[in-house]
Amino acid sequence: MQKPNGTPAPQGGVDVRVANQVNEHERAPLAKTAHRVLHEIFGLPGFRGEQEEIIKHVIAGGDAIVLMPTGGGKSLCYQIPALCRPGVALIVSPLIALMRNQVDILSQLGVRVAALNSSLSGAERAKIRSALRNGRLDLLYVAPERLLMPDFVAMLRETEIALIAIDEAHCVSQWGHDFRPEYLRLPELFDNFPGVPRIALTATADRQTREDIRGRLKLDAARLGRKAHPNESVR
Ligand SMILES: Nc1ncnc2c1ncn2[C@@H]1O[C@H](COP(=O)(O)OP(=O)(O)OP(=O)(O)O)[C@@H](O)[C@H]1O
Ligand SMILES: [Mg+2]
Repeated sequence: MQKPNGTPAPQGGVDVRVANQVNEHERAPLAKTAHRVLHEIFGLPGFRGEQEEIIKHVIAGGDAIVLMPTGGGKSLCYQIPALCRPGVALIVSPLIALMRNQVDILSQLGVRVAALNSSLSGAERAKIRSALRNGRLDLLYVAPERLLMPDFVAMLRETEIALIAIDEAHCVSQWGHDFRPEYLRLPELFDNFPGVPRIALTATADRQTREDIRGRLKLDAARLGRKAHPNESVR
């Protein structure tokens, strides 16, 4: 699939490599591109709730913490920016079954996607590494243990990274129901990719978990996208 805003520079689109300095004037074409991806790739008529706002923010280079209920549509919040920004998006995912499910859905839509985890053979892993090196992947789902391996990080440093998404981000929190200690090392990874947007997503919306995610992933300035709640302000 050719990214609407990917590399090489698209015809009639906008190059989002400068998106970190995006201004209001430049936001309009970016938003249009997100709509195009929603319609043309996902075949959906419109965004739900805060999806559009979050997607535009991440395409423009911002960090985000996304809180939406189960089945609320969190995946599009990183998948559309992944397809609008140049480079490959890294999706940290805790379970092989979750990765497989997303890979199946996206490959049926023609998106260039793979999952890297302990279930693969050496040959399969080599194939993914080669696709990464040659810029032939839009999204890579990866378990945190594998993502943090030094030789893998070294390879990623030679690769253009579109964004880093942390799905099921409650795994980072001691208050979350399936705490995974490897998640605590993710800030080490982020340090290798300054300026790359990070987006943490979870359906666990209690304040303690949320603040733990923000603190442990060092997402201090992240925009907080969440379902509106009467007594709380949204940053
Ligand atoms: N804007 C939209 N219009 C129509 N359907 C949508 C939209 N956004 C998401 N969906 C659909 O909603 C369903 C759930 O989406 P998704 O898997 O992203 O949820 P989730 O928030 O990640 O849930 P979970 O917490 O279970 O991981 C999917 O079938 C997806 O295609
Ligand atoms: Mg999900």
